[in-house]
Amino acid sequence: MITAKEYAARRRELMSMMQGNSIAVIASGREKVRSKDIHYPYKQATNLTYLCGFAEPESVLVLTPGRAQGECVLFCREKDKLRETWDGYRTGPERAVIDFGVDDAFPIGDLDEILPGMLEGKERVYFSIGRDAEFDRHLMEWVNEVRGKKGRGTPPPGEFVDVDHLLSEMRLIKTAAELKLMRKAGEISARAHCRAMKVAKPGIFEYQLQAEIEHEFIHSGASAPAYTSIVGGGANGCILHYVENRKKINNGDLVLIDAGCEFENYAADITRTFPINGKFSPEQAAIYDIVLDAQLQAIAALKPGAPYSGANDATVRVITQGLRDLGILQGDVSELIEQESYKEFYMHSSGHWLGMDVHDVGDYKIDNQWRVYEPGMVVTVEPGIYISPDNKLVAEKWRGLAVRIEDDIAITKTGYEDLTSTVPKTRHDIESLMAG
Ligand code: GLY
Ligand code: MN
Ligand code: MN
Repeated sequence: MITAKEYAARRRELMSMMQGNSIAVIASGREKVRSKDIHYPYKQATNLTYLCGFAEPESVLVLTPGRAQGECVLFCREKDKLRETWDGYRTGPERAVIDFGVDDAFPIGDLDEILPGMLEGKERVYFSIGRDAEFDRHLMEWVNEVRGKKGRGTPPPGEFVDVDHLLSEMRLIKTAAELKLMRKAGEISARAHCRAMKVAKPGIFEYQLQAEIEHEFIHSGASAPAYTSIVGGGANGCILHYVENRKKINNGDLVLIDAGCEFENYAADITRTFPINGKFSPEQAAIYDIVLDAQLQAIAALKPGAPYSGANDATVRVITQGLRDLGILQGDVSELIEQESYKEFYMHSSGHWLGMDVHDVGDYKIDNQWRVYEPGMVVTVEPGIYISPDNKLVAEKWRGLAVRIEDDIAITKTGYEDLTSTVPKTRHDIESLMAG
């Protein structure tokens, strides 16, 4: 759980990084219609969640460092008995002050009236520039309203700064409380993968394994999958973001499952690949062992001070060498790496930042140089080999094989912590678990 104290500290830290005489305006996510009166599950704007934990739509958080009447103001929906009967509980401004630790709260309907006054006399506005066209337009309307009053000596703000830069850097380094939640998301997701391995058998449908995985998520208290679960039997594993999950998985096939839950707003992201009949064939084993070796070597490269690119470089090196040794690639390994020949079989990079968003925020380069790892960063390590069923240039026995192995790694003061280590990943351990 993220405490009210931690949320307040985040708001203070953001305000301390804002230049003088400025204001930050953080808007909620919008509800999106799925079909007629039905909405997609609501997702709060991650930055608003990060700063105060408020989960309702139609809300705006305003931070004004030094404002005498209160620095942190939340605009939110009013209580409404009828709407609450239909759509669920609303906090309302009165309760919001108590529950979310803001200094003041007003009905969202009063935003147009109150916000121009808060912008008056401010030189710059921090907001998420260009992420929500409707919000951008509103902000300009509020600015114009201040401009309209210019005769009375109140120049409108003249500088607009993307608040995401500041928030992304903050979010990139996880606190102890955040890591605790990510550990939990990792544990639940790991259990879900184990459950899928245990029930797997030839003839099962991809969606049945998806159901096992997602049952474990929800039953364990996770709010939802952090992204659409990928369950690809056989050659479907070659489609990196395969989400149809409708096919039967046949004896002799591998299945690639990429699934992770979201627990209290923090994501996990795990991939495991295993033989549906519980026993790796020689070809499956050969490809699997290259990917596992690549992943282990990449993880071994993770420690504070090491460059971000080290993990990817390790995966490229091991995969290219492995494919060359199997005769799937031919030629000199350094040249194959130079020419990026491996990209036919390994077309993504070794991972991404992980946090409240699955593909989390944070720059990968600073001044065009790979940044170095710092304690508190969390990164996925997820090499893969995908041999298209249509690739006539490789021997037939390899075609349609797909393996990805993905874990979530937190950088610590001395090295790293694997947040998803409780799902087996050696062939021996997978086969043992599947054998029961
Ligand atoms: N599950 C999406 C990814 O691994 O990046
Ligand atoms: Mn994944
Ligand atoms: Mn991933």
